[in-house]
Amino acid sequence: MKYELRPLTLADADKLYEFYQTIPASENGAANKAFGLTKPQFIEWIKQKEKSARGLDVRDDRVAATTYVLYVDDVPVGRSNLRHYLNAALEQDGGHIGLSVAPQYRGRGYSKILLHETLKRAKEKGINPVLVFHFADNIPACKMSESVGGKLMEERFQEKRGRLIRKYAFDTSLLD
Ligand SMILES: CC(C)(COP(=O)(O)OP(=O)(O)OC[C@H]1O[C@@H](n2cnc3c(N)ncnc32)[C@H](O)[C@@H]1OP(=O)(O)O)[C@@H](O)C(=O)NCCC(=O)NCCS
Repeated sequence: MKYELRPLTLADADKLYEFYQTIPASENGAANKAFGLTKPQFIEWIKQKEKSARGLDVRDDRVAATTYVLYVDDVPVGRSNLRHYLNAALEQDGGHIGLSVAPQYRGRGYSKILLHETLKRAKEKGINPVLVFHFADNIPACKMSESVGGKLMEERFQEKRGRLIRKYAFDTSLLD
């Protein structure tokens, strides 16, 4: 198995349009804003993401972020969003990384590769610690973070969603 985490770029738009339509728009706090877009809208969305990765045109209530796609044997299977820093809201909920694996590729261990590779990119950007939030009842996500070295820092009830939320921290200095 050959895997590679690549930043989202316009050059991959054709290859990725169908892939992004297989990931639900919203699932356990992970949002896929490309779901339901037309192809021209998708192209504009990628351009926006490329700008955000370079810290350009970032709205006041947002932070710069890089979107990555995990390819396994050149097939896109998952995607992650790495925020370069946190604002007050993201410190409480959201954290540095949001990710998902396309439903047809789940249960094969890909999320652990996706998270580990994204953490390595965070280390390259000097981010430490990296914070990741999951709902406590999102068992695959919690197991993923624990398997990749995340330390459970906090579990608290989130009023607005009526669910328990967990905060995990990763020490990127420990990554290989
Ligand atoms: C959470 C998610 C990324 C996991 O992706 P995945 O590729 O299916 O997960 P993996 O196969 O890598 O498994 C990760 C761990 O969860 C476990 N797991 C996977 N599916 C499971 C299931 N249905 N029930 C219980 N455990 C499960 C695996 O055994 C593994 O645990 P281990 O390391 O102890 O062996 C995927 O379900 C997803 O995209 N969900 C929607 C978005 C989301 O919830 N994102 C996380 C919040 S940011």
